Parts: sequence; structure tokens; C-alpha cells
Amino acid sequence: MELIDGKALSASVKLQLKERVAALETEYGRKPCLAVIIVGENPASQSYVRGKIKACAFVGMDSRLIELPESVSQEDLLAKIAELNADDAVDGLLVQLPLPKHIDEDAVIDAISVEKDVDGFHPGNVAALWLGKPCMVPCTPKGVMMMIESTGVPVAGKKAVVIGRSNIVGKPVAKLLLDANATVTIAHSRTADLPAVCREADILVVAIGRPKFVAADMVKPGAVVIDVGINRQADGTLCGDVDFDAVAPLTSHITPVPGGVGPMTITVLMSNTVDCFIRRMNKQ
Ligand code: GUN
Repeated sequence: MELIDGKALSASVKLQLKERVAALETEYGRKPCLAVIIVGENPASQSYVRGKIKACAFVGMDSRLIELPESVSQEDLLAKIAELNADDAVDGLLVQLPLPKHIDEDAVIDAISVEKDVDGFHPGNVAALWLGKPCMVPCTPKGVMMMIESTGVPVAGKKAVVIGRSNIVGKPVAKLLLDANATVTIAHSRTADLPAVCREADILVVAIGRPKFVAADMVKPGAVVIDVGINRQADGTLCGDVDFDAVAPLTSHITPVPGGVGPMTITVLMSNTVDCFIRRMNKQ
């Protein structure tokens, strides 16, 4: 078994991005800039957002953090998005999810300019992804693919099983695996005999948000296992959706939690912001 070291991979990609950002600044006279809106005080969201802002500083990009109170009206949030959409100094814009119950998440995602949608959540980008057109690819799914690539295990022709069907991870990761010519199954809470379905997988991607859900009897010996879950346990430590201690010895490659998919997600966000910057610069 080999660990897929998300921290190391992410660090090396960030170093490359740092050089690229410096060159872009020389070429275009300014740095790429990411704006991040956070609503309320969800501790997990605050921690993710801090990580995003810190990563911008590391790669030498500008960032703007817009903190809005839990009580903010949808109207005021949409007005802030419109302002940042129109701001030429902002290249990428994201609203950290989840949002408070009184705000319609779809309306918020729809309001973000497709050109600045570094999360790849806007329907315009989702449609482009599924049509195979150029688009912003969601960060976690793209990070998952980079981690699979880093193993050197070929994806084409392999059986891939994705557990989870969210718009943020499950569905886009399935499309990326399909693009890489895997034979893809999307499994979920209603899948009949889930262990048997998972045991077929040469590549198993788990994104269901249930701590240590994937047990040893759900994994084919020699499989590549990517664990997207980040769950906080009663003792305050983090664990994934995979029972790592039981499953890891069976696998050819597996991601740890923490230190697996999490760091890659933020790194891809940096890379998506750079891509938005370049596209915007070349349009002007
Ligand atoms: N909440 C959990 N994951 C994400 C993500 O990738 N982007 C945003 N905006 N919110 C999230």
C-alpha cells in the first residue's frame, strides 16, 4: 500500500503556481485576485476560508475576504455579488457553502458571473462540463483526478465507483472519470448491495460524509481509494468516510484524512483563479 500524500502534491503544485503568478504579474501588471464571501460563523466554513486566503498569499495572489453576518438578507448578498462581478480587479469569486436557511443557494450560485466562477458551480459551467466544453472544473473533483494521476495507475478501461451524488463532488468526479475513459458507477444511500458494487471498483472515490463508512469488505484488493470525507469525531480529531486502518492494507494506493484531498482542493482553487485571470486578461 502507498499513501497518496495530498499535502506534498499540493505543496509542489503551489510552488509551480507561485512562479507562474510572479510571471503573470510581470506580464500583465497586476496579480490575480480571488474574492471569498462567507456568511455567518460556521466553524468548518471559517477554517476552509482561512485556508483559501492563506493559500492566495502563499502563491502571491491578492485576495478579498467579505464576511457577512448570518442575518444578511438574500438581497444584500446578491448585491455584494453583483458588485464583485462588476469589479475589474476581481478575477475569481466564490461564496462559501452552506448558506443560512433563509438564503436560496441556487439563486446565489446563479448570480456569480460564469467567468469568475472558480468553484465551477454555476449552471453555465456545469452544462459546459457535461457537454465536454471548456469550463471551470469544480476544485475537489479536479483535485481527486490529480491525486489518481499521481499514482501512475492508468484510469482508461478501469471500473470506477463513486459513492455519493452531490453536485459539488459525486456528480462532477464521475464525469471526470468518464472523460478519463473509466467505466463509472455512481452509488449512493439507495444502492442495493453497496458492498458488492464497491468491491467491483478498481478506483473507489468516497464522498458521502459518513465517518468510517467504507469497511474492508467493500474494497477490492489492489484498488485505488480516494477518501473525500472530512468528519470531526467526538474527540475533536478528523476522520474520513473510509475506515482507514481496516481498508488501507488492502489497497494499492489510498488518501489519508487529514492530508489527502483537503489540501488539493484549495490548491486547485488557486489554479482555477489563475485560469480565470488569464482568460479575463486575454479578453480585454
Ligand atoms: N463548501 C464545501 N465545499 C465547498 C466548495 O468547494 N466551495 C464552496 N464555495 N463551498 C464549499
